[in-house]
Amino acid sequence: MQSILYVSKATQTFDEQALRDLLQQAEERNRTLGITGYLYFKSPYFFQYIESEDNAVETLMDSIAADTRHSIINQLHDTFSGERRFPDWSMRAISEGTVRKLNLEQIIIDDVVSMNGVYRNEERWKATVTKVVTTLARNRQSMAKR
Ligand SMILES: Cc1cc2nc3c(=O)[nH]c(=O)nc-3n(C[C@H](O)[C@H](O)[C@H](O)COP(=O)(O)O)c2cc1C
Repeated sequence: MQSILYVSKATQTFDEQALRDLLQQAEERNRTLGITGYLYFKSPYFFQYIESEDNAVETLMDSIAADTRHSIINQLHDTFSGERRFPDWSMRAISEGTVRKLNLEQIIIDDVVSMNGVYRNEERWKATVTKVVTTLARNRQSMAKR
């Protein structure tokens, strides 16, 4: 399994319709490519996770990175391996309600606080986002479909 996780910043406004269109296209295309994952958008930032058995995610990432509607800020390749974390999601939107319900901000806040405000360590960042993705994966059954 290969995986990519990234944070990007939108270069244009994404209203609900634009986001819905993007998700629908992504979902259809990912289904044919054997890619699963999720997309979170909190204007102006995206936080997406994609996974595939082969190197399909790397090919898709070339397209995503070339997409001028956003620009990539940071990405992690292959932090996750083994089993797919989101086998039943071709591309699912994570809502702000879910983030609040799962207390995901608290994971990040706790980590930053425990590091005395020093947050420039790549390993710590990996550990934090791993916790976030793992928490989402563990709770995905309880998330209502949009
Ligand atoms: C934030 C964001 C997330 C995206 N996620 C996906 C995705 O999961 N799957 C997908 O096929 N396209 C996704 N796209 C669209 C791709 O960037 C690209 O437009 C599409 O894959 C067509 O690429 P191509 O013109 O190189 O074939 C995403 C775009 C953005 C801005």
